[in-house]
Amino acid sequence: MGYLQGEKPITISKLLSMHRAGEKISVLTAYDSTMSALLNRCNLDVILVGDSLGNVVQGQTSTTSVTLEQMAYHTSCVARSNNRTFLIADLPFASYGHPEQALESAATLMRSGADMVKLEGGDWQIEIIRYLVNRSVPVCAHLGLMPQSVHVLGGYKIQGKSEDSAKLMLEQAKACENAGAQMLVLEAIPSALGKTITNALTIPTIGIGAGPDCSGQVLVLPDLLGISPGKPPKFVKNFMDGQSSIEEAIKAYISDVKSNRFPGPEHGFNS
Ligand code: KIV
Repeated sequence: MGYLQGEKPITISKLLSMHRAGEKISVLTAYDSTMSALLNRCNLDVILVGDSLGNVVQGQTSTTSVTLEQMAYHTSCVARSNNRTFLIADLPFASYGHPEQALESAATLMRSGADMVKLEGGDWQIEIIRYLVNRSVPVCAHLGLMPQSVHVLGGYKIQGKSEDSAKLMLEQAKACENAGAQMLVLEAIPSALGKTITNALTIPTIGIGAGPDCSGQVLVLPDLLGISPGKPPKFVKNFMDGQSSIEEAIKAYISDVKSNRFPGPEHGFNS
């Protein structure tokens, strides 16, 4: 009867009502149990076990090396010390090529503790999104810069800059919502397009380099802590600046997201 006791977990209904009430949704990535416990203590809304673990944990230059088994392992590590935060796990590269494979992969991640799975893509994933949702798998879609497509895109580039590509992305976002996706991540797109897509949908959008008007924000945790190697992307802010602990930095991020102080104009892209 554990699900009837203890702290009330954040559900998709709670996230949807926060979105409707205009309360911003705070999201961070995590890959292990210690950070998951800390994010819970800080009252974060959503943890994403991102396939960015390919970069962050494995030191790879892309996410395409990440396997389903690795995602399941890290999801179970995070889930073990999660008692209230909504937990999304990424379906990794080539694990959702057809509906049956997607369902098997999503089931593996949900059995590991995920509340929702995230997949990259738009209208070309409609059949898969519908298939999963009709079989009780909550889905978050991901548009804009899709890191699993980095070899097709020819690098990590801002997406949706031209009028035509922005229009197309808006149509793809609507198609994802119509197919049953209950959340949408928007990565590295002009701030104005982030606003247009958010206003056109009823489901929450979670931005990373998509401007201040998304329903919530996500950052890769080591980026927020200023410990990622190399030059950080423009949309990153080092929240350790001026803080004396990791806990304080995470709380500052949540507070800045909730109060619309992050992201600022300096973290966004123009068309
Ligand atoms: O894998 C990941 O961490 C992500 C975020 C960048 C949104 O997909």
